[in-house]
Amino acid sequence: MSKKIASARITEKSSKLLQELNNSLPFDKILYKEDIEGSIAHAFMLSEQGIISKEDYKEINRGLNEILEEIESGEFKLNGDDEDIHMAIEGRLTEKIGDAGKRLHTARSRNDQVALDFRLYVQKNTKKIAKLLLKNIETLINLAKDNTSTLLPGMTHLQHAQPINFGYHLMAYASMFKRDYERFISSFHRNNLSPIGCAALAGTPHPINREITSSKLGFKEPTLNCLDTVSDRDFALEVLFNISTMLMHISRFSEEIILWSSSEFKFITLSDRHATGSSIMPQKKNPDIPELLRAKTGRANGNLIALLTVMKGLPLAYNKDMQEDKEGVFDSIKTALLSLEVLEEMVSQMKVNRQNMEKACMIGHLSATDLADYLVKEIGIAFRDAYHITGGVVNLAENKGLDISELSLEDLQSVDSRIGESVIELLDNRASMNARNSEGGTSSARTKEQIEKMSLWIELQKEEI
Ligand code: ARG
Repeated sequence: MSKKIASARITEKSSKLLQELNNSLPFDKILYKEDIEGSIAHAFMLSEQGIISKEDYKEINRGLNEILEEIESGEFKLNGDDEDIHMAIEGRLTEKIGDAGKRLHTARSRNDQVALDFRLYVQKNTKKIAKLLLKNIETLINLAKDNTSTLLPGMTHLQHAQPINFGYHLMAYASMFKRDYERFISSFHRNNLSPIGCAALAGTPHPINREITSSKLGFKEPTLNCLDTVSDRDFALEVLFNISTMLMHISRFSEEIILWSSSEFKFITLSDRHATGSSIMPQKKNPDIPELLRAKTGRANGNLIALLTVMKGLPLAYNKDMQEDKEGVFDSIKTALLSLEVLEEMVSQMKVNRQNMEKACMIGHLSATDLADYLVKEIGIAFRDAYHITGGVVNLAENKGLDISELSLEDLQSVDSRIGESVIELLDNRASMNARNSEGGTSSARTKEQIEKMSLWIELQKEEI
């Protein structure tokens, strides 16, 4: 921008260094669509209210649509020395259509303009992320459906604990992603309010109608208080927090995928499309993709803390500090979208090695709790005593190099003669898994119930989003 369109007071050209610190165009140019969309809605409202003429609106609308095409075709490059995207587009508009362009900024300030553009951007991307979350949940559900009786060692402290099924394990992640989805949708609705028309901080003496811009832009209604609106970045903080939490979930899943693909587990095999080789060790197949997904949480958390820190202690209303709100949000959104797409592709194409999962269930005496429960339920032994008897059985199995489910009735009775024959089938891992048939439990039947409930929920969301 050669002429300063927003500086009646400043006569000298800014120093190069000031521009470098001050200009946001290098990163806020990403908001060009939202800026144009917002300006068209604002100009429409101005003309409806008789604040500018219908002819001016037509010119502005035509000019802005042309600028959109110029930007998308690369004819208008957003790399000049304009301070920000708002000045760049307004400057270009005036260059193209003259006086009508100069009327666009009536009853508006960059403070409500940037609040609008940024909010539109966050809202649009919130929906994109939510849709991708649904897709990931569907993929998990499909894989879970095929594995409701695939045995897997359920762990606590990363130690074998009780037998579960693989579908049940996947449904735990589907449940996390469901909560993530709900968080995105809830902040979408809470923030679906239009900031435009707040002007610099106090509203405007022009007879504007904020309902018109609000409904034209797809918001529920205008925000309540202009002073708050121009300095509110909660909507951005919410999306950052939602992304951080979601990526934390993805990092946990990724960690398990990394473990499962190792030689020690071999529970899954990643598709060659999602693994990489080593430059020196020809035999290696590395899980770089889940490792990167696991690591992405770091930058997202950084972006969240950065904006929380920028906003802390800021007096009302707009302060230039708030220009620092954007890069982290753009980065977190980009990271979230890519991570979700990659995760979905990787999970839908990985191979599940059922036999290895089931084999691993023979390590760690997974059905020991079933023996203790049997002693309590069938023989009437107090739980703490049953716990110690079971400990004795586990020791015997260890000494014999067997799993508890492989012991004979004689072996079991050598520890406690009260143990009866019916216990044998209870100690089988699949029976043990299916015995956990309480609501939300791991039995195949309960897992199928969870899959069904989640599938119904997905269908409802698809109608809404
Ligand atoms: N580039 C600025 C930002 O991103 C736009 C708002 C500037 N407003 C102002 N009064 N300086 O925050």
